[in-house]
Amino acid sequence: MVDKIRHIQQPVIEAIKEFDQADMDDLCEAAEEAILDGNGFGWLTPPRRIVQENFWKGVLMVPVRELYCARFEGRIVGSGQLLKPFSNNEAGAHIGQVATFFIAPYARGHGLAIGLLAVIENSAKEQGIKILEVDVRETQTAAIALLEGNGYEKWATKSNYAWNGERYVDGFYYKKELAELKRDESLSGN
Ligand SMILES: CC(C)(COP(=O)(O)OP(=O)(O)OC[C@H]1O[C@@H](n2cnc3c(N)ncnc32)[C@H](O)[C@@H]1OP(=O)(O)O)[C@@H](O)C(=O)NCCC(=O)NCCS
Repeated sequence: MVDKIRHIQQPVIEAIKEFDQADMDDLCEAAEEAILDGNGFGWLTPPRRIVQENFWKGVLMVPVRELYCARFEGRIVGSGQLLKPFSNNEAGAHIGQVATFFIAPYARGHGLAIGLLAVIENSAKEQGIKILEVDVRETQTAAIALLEGNGYEKWATKSNYAWNGERYVDGFYYKKELAELKRDESLSGN
C-alpha cells in the first residue's frame, strides 16, 4: 500500500551565516516580489540580480548585522535584520534596529512575520539591547498593524520620509522597550 501521509514542512525562522545558491536565489526572488508589490525596503524597482546578491553578501560581512530568514515549505520567503549598535557607540549600546523586514506576497498570512520579529527581539534581548526601533512608511498598513499588535509604540512622524515612485510619503518611527530602563531623575543634561 502506498504511504499517503503528506510531510508538511513547518515554517522556520533561521539565522543565516552563509548562503548556498538555492537560498540566495529564493531570497532574491522573494525580495523582488516584495519590491514589485510596492513596499520594498528602499528599492522602488528590483535591482539587477547581481546587485541584490552583492547586497545580501555584504549584509553577512558586517558584524553588527544579524540576518534572519523565514523559510516556508523549504524555501526562503522573507527576511529581517537586527542592527546592533557599533562598538564605539557605548552611549547608545542599549538601542538596536530592525531592517529589511519583509515576507514575499506569496507567503503572507501564515504568521511568519510574527515569528521573525520574535526571533529578532529574543536575540536583541539576549545581547543586552533594551530598545528596538523600526521605521516604516505611512502606507505600510500591514507592518503598522504588525508592530502595534506586538507592543511597538509610535514616537515620531517624519514628513517626506520616502519617495514611493509617485509622491512623498510620511514615515512612522516605532520603538519597543525590551527591558526596564532606569532613569536617574536627579540628573539632567547628561
Ligand atoms: C508586514 C508583513 C511583513 C507581514 O507579513 P505576514 O507574514 O503576512 O504577517 P503575519 O502573517 O505574521 O501577520 C502578523 C500580523 O501582521 C498584521 N497583518 C499582516 N497582514 C496584514 C494585512 N494585510 N492587513 C492588516 N494587518 C496585517 C496583523 O496584525 C497580523 O496579525 P493577526 O494575523 O493576528 O491579525 C508583510 O505584509 C510585508 O512584507 N509587507 C511589505 C514590507 C513591509 O511592510 N515590511 C515591514 C517593515 S517593519
